[in-house]
Amino acid sequence: MHIKVLGSAAGGGFPQWNCNCPNCAGLRSGQIRAQARTQSSIAVSANGQDWLLVNASPDILTQIARTPELQPARALRDSGIAAVLLMDAQIDHVTGLLMLRERSTPLPLLATAEVQSDIAQGFPITGILSHYCGTRLQTLPIDGSAVHIPELPGLEVFTVALHSKPPPYSPFRGAPRAGDNIGLLVRNPATGQQVFYAPGLAQVGPELLDLMAGCHTVLVDGTCWTADELQALGVSQKSALDMGHLPQSGPGGMIEQLDRLPHTVRKVLIHINNSNPILREDGPERLILSDHGIDVAFDGMEIAF
Ligand code: MLT
Ligand code: MN
Ligand code: ZN
Repeated sequence: MHIKVLGSAAGGGFPQWNCNCPNCAGLRSGQIRAQARTQSSIAVSANGQDWLLVNASPDILTQIARTPELQPARALRDSGIAAVLLMDAQIDHVTGLLMLRERSTPLPLLATAEVQSDIAQGFPITGILSHYCGTRLQTLPIDGSAVHIPELPGLEVFTVALHSKPPPYSPFRGAPRAGDNIGLLVRNPATGQQVFYAPGLAQVGPELLDLMAGCHTVLVDGTCWTADELQALGVSQKSALDMGHLPQSGPGGMIEQLDRLPHTVRKVLIHINNSNPILREDGPERLILSDHGIDVAFDGMEIAF
């Protein structure tokens, strides 16, 4: 089973186009040790040829250009992307769908009923795409049952309903529904090993911890280091939790949660906001993460299991 991290940054990417925070300005000027990152997406494949794109980020074209596996040349028009699965309806996870419109057949698209409603109404991408390639929608269950993707017969995936937030444009922003945000479990049928992916995660309860404890690797929400990171920078009134993201540091934070997992589980933070000090490879926060056995995802990172 292969997983490729296409984009490891949160919405906005790193550096963000209009941002002069110490991280973004430092990366542009070469004053800090850090790597640029594109917006949130991974690709998953059982055979290394046919891929499930998990989230379609605004940076999808750059990500495809950097990933030869996604651009085979078996036909005049061809792609390694066999289907797309969405974790939520956030702008950083769905906007890239518009960039896939040149397909000659409808795009196989897997999303919960809640996400489908947001991308049909609040941000009507599926309606727009119906004038181009169209979509073949498959509704994702949120009861934990297995998802069979006709285009990817070798792949075994399961969804997990999560506590987070629908996008700011959603009529349900203030009253989240189960199905607004999901996590994904990818299972290797030969070994039974699983990888859990959750770029938007506001709460880690006992059930979720149990599930993560049985995984080979967990790729989880690494958006902010502190709850008030964006407020402290003066760029937003919102806390990390207001946006549906559990910060890493502090009581009850992601580091504390990941500490509860067995040492056998590989722990990786993903969906990292450009304000997050963990982007600095030689910074003190990075040392704290290493002490806790936690890695930071980067674009191009591969996980085989
Ligand atoms: C989020 O996860 O909160 C989003 O990245 C926000 C956005 O894309 O604007
Ligand atoms: Mn996001
Ligand atoms: Zn920034």
